[in-house]
Amino acid sequence: RCFGHVLPAEGPRVDPGHVGELLVSQQVEEADDWLRYGNPWEKARPEYMRPVHFYGRVEHTAEGVEWVDTQMVLALPYDTPVPGYRNNIVNTMRLWSAKAPCDFNLKDCDSSPAVLCCPQLAEAPMFYVLQFFEGKELRLKQEYFVVAATLQDIIRRFKASKFGSTEFVRLDLSTMPDKVAIQLNDTHPALAIPELMRLLVDTEKLSWEKAWDIVVRTCAYTNHTVLPEALERWPVDLFRNLLPRHLEIIYEINRRHLERIGKLYPGDFDRLRRMSLIEEGDIKKINMAHLCIVGSHAVNGVARIHSEIIKNTVFKDFYDIDPQKFQNKTNGITPRRWLVMCNPGLAEVIAERIGENYIRDLDQLKKLLDFVDDDAFIRDVAKIKQENKLKFAAHLEEHYKVKINPNSMFDLQVKRIHEYKRQLLNCLHIITLYNRIKKEPNKLWTPRTIMIGGKAAPGYHTAKMIIKLITSIGDIVNNDPVVGDRLKVIFLENYRVTLAEKVIPASDLSEQISTAGTEASGTGNMKFMLNGALTIGTMDGANVEMAEEAGEENMFIFGMRVEDVDALDKKGYDAVSYYNRLPELKQAIDQISGGFFSPAQPGLFKDLVNMLMHHDRFKVFADYEDYIKCQEKVSALYKNPKEWTKKVIRNIAGCGKFSSDRTISQYAREIWGIEPSLEKILGQTQQTSSNYLSSVLLQANLPGYLHSSRFY
Ligand SMILES: *Cc1c(COP(=O)(O)O)cnc(C)c1O
Ligand SMILES: *[C@@H]1O[C@H](CO)[C@@H](O)[C@H](O)[C@H]1NC(C)=O
Ligand SMILES: *[C@@H]1O[C@H](CO)[C@@H](O)[C@H](O)[C@H]1NC(C)=O
Ligand SMILES: *[C@@H]1O[C@H](CO)[C@@H](O)[C@H](O)[C@H]1NC(C)=O
Repeated sequence: RCFGHVLPAEGPRVDPGHVGELLVSQQVEEADDWLRYGNPWEKARPEYMRPVHFYGRVEHTAEGVEWVDTQMVLALPYDTPVPGYRNNIVNTMRLWSAKAPCDFNLKDCDSSPAVLCCPQLAEAPMFYVLQFFEGKELRLKQEYFVVAATLQDIIRRFKASKFGSTEFVRLDLSTMPDKVAIQLNDTHPALAIPELMRLLVDTEKLSWEKAWDIVVRTCAYTNHTVLPEALERWPVDLFRNLLPRHLEIIYEINRRHLERIGKLYPGDFDRLRRMSLIEEGDIKKINMAHLCIVGSHAVNGVARIHSEIIKNTVFKDFYDIDPQKFQNKTNGITPRRWLVMCNPGLAEVIAERIGENYIRDLDQLKKLLDFVDDDAFIRDVAKIKQENKLKFAAHLEEHYKVKINPNSMFDLQVKRIHEYKRQLLNCLHIITLYNRIKKEPNKLWTPRTIMIGGKAAPGYHTAKMIIKLITSIGDIVNNDPVVGDRLKVIFLENYRVTLAEKVIPASDLSEQISTAGTEASGTGNMKFMLNGALTIGTMDGANVEMAEEAGEENMFIFGMRVEDVDALDKKGYDAVSYYNRLPELKQAIDQISGGFFSPAQPGLFKDLVNMLMHHDRFKVFADYEDYIKCQEKVSALYKNPKEWTKKVIRNIAGCGKFSSDRTISQYAREIWGIEPSLEKILGQTQQTSSNYLSSVLLQANLPGYLHSSRFY
């Protein structure tokens, strides 16, 4: 996985990726060999092993189409039980591992003679498999591997169920969509669409029309990001070599798709070009998002604002012809992990007031509104927060030798490091606060411990520079005697779920400050809200719905709305004009570019500053002024603990919508066509075998996740 973590500064160290010495902390990456000591929670299921084919060529014969002369890899399933919360139900998560073919008895596999079964391979099968998943095709191979294994598994299970076959009745795959739902989690498993067509047409000998109807009724697609760079596009040439039959099928899907568009909009050739699954150009590419939309009966975004953006912008042409396909499913978090398990103290004081049923029915948190003015409850909520803060402060001291002031406001921004999430805006606030304290050291400042944590993608240089900037600011601010413990800047290294579970219950302020229109939903925002932090945020992602549920007056909302961002784009964003107009912004930027925070390497941050001043896609300066003003309101309210805690309670009371139980129920009802019964999701009954519905969430692992790994 991507799991670099940042070491504390300890003198000069050599950056393996760069020449010269580095004088500030930086992210380092190491391999996560998570299977080194085995995994006691999983069970290998060799009886369900399936072959997966690659390369080869296509033969069209009188009997149909055959994909021949392929290379074959075996997919070995591993099952991990996933128990429900007090409902006597255990689901299965099935992950796949790649194996070389000669290891196993191939009698039961529908493979051609194992062309790759040579003596050397038999001796070093793992070596062969590792070699196989490498090079520029790695990602596409991974994606196809997981899809091909899972689809064979689905069809096998469907046929084995009483709905799929009996000894006397001819197998009827057309009922499959009633019993099977495939939710494409982003475009990574998009190959499920042509692969299911291949299995139905080439193997099961169904007509194209009948097969296509099954595919579309079975598949649905969730889009998870707004950023255009996330769009997967695979060169046609790569496909022709690796998956020749799938390329033919995609071309046929596209031919029929464009024929339909052509009939709807005669002569509109630009629309045909825009909507095609194949992008023309120097290198012809397949647009995987278009493939997903065409091959699915439902397409959804992950927060209301995101679903609207999808319909109105990039996928508007598709919305125009199939508006009924487009839905929204606002993300949620599980209250079991993100409240009961990570914050038992808070869960308990809530249960003392409204009982325990809210754990399975989070809407019941509304009842806490009756306790907003209850002094005893206010005291309990504040006391739990203070205990969590002390505990986290002790954790930092024990593991990282950092001492923080537990009476300061814990101001947190923990999430992946990315320009659109705007950790840089947070940095500008820190520097502004620092300069203000230095200017008026005797004023009564609200003390803050500002913690920022998160990983940068290994190849994302700007994100790594942002980490360096944060640790550099910390080195100056934390060692300035004038500042003392009124302002501390901590970079939380190796941010991951286990750390999130510790730090979120201890936080006072949650920073959700992405440029409006860029964060699809966010789930960190919901975790903080449920754990009694107040949010400072933009009207972006699920923040919009949080403000609706908790009341905008109970959050600190600032900055441009999506409309303002669009208007600024039309007018032209000019960062320099803000720099010239706002003296404190100018001072902060001059300090960063002048080496104030990196005295040993004054030019270290010149690229970052250049980006902010001249090509900032995320308009940090445009929100600076409003952000600083809003932070002043945060500091002022923090001086009044009682009023602060009342807002906290109103926020917790507004969390009901953000339970993943609600999200999953909506997927079930509105996309998979099945009625979720509380009995089955959360109740005390046994699962009944007559309710066979296999909903498969497909997700292909990201690059770098690969070696000795599992795929699902
Ligand atoms: C919840 C969570 C995230 C998502 O956070 P956002 O603020 O929504 O980006 C990222 N990483 C970890 C470890 C999390 O627990
Ligand atoms: C689905 O995709 C999202 C976004 O990439 C990811 O965070 C999540 O873990 C995925 N879910 C599963 C079950 O793989
Ligand atoms: C999801 O949709 C947006 C358009 O709103 C697009 O920019 C983004 O690339 C899509 N994501 C993927 C993975 O295709
Ligand atoms: C959001 O989705 C729900 C169903 O998932 C739908 O009822 C509602 O109208 C949608 N709202 C918007 C604004 O898209």
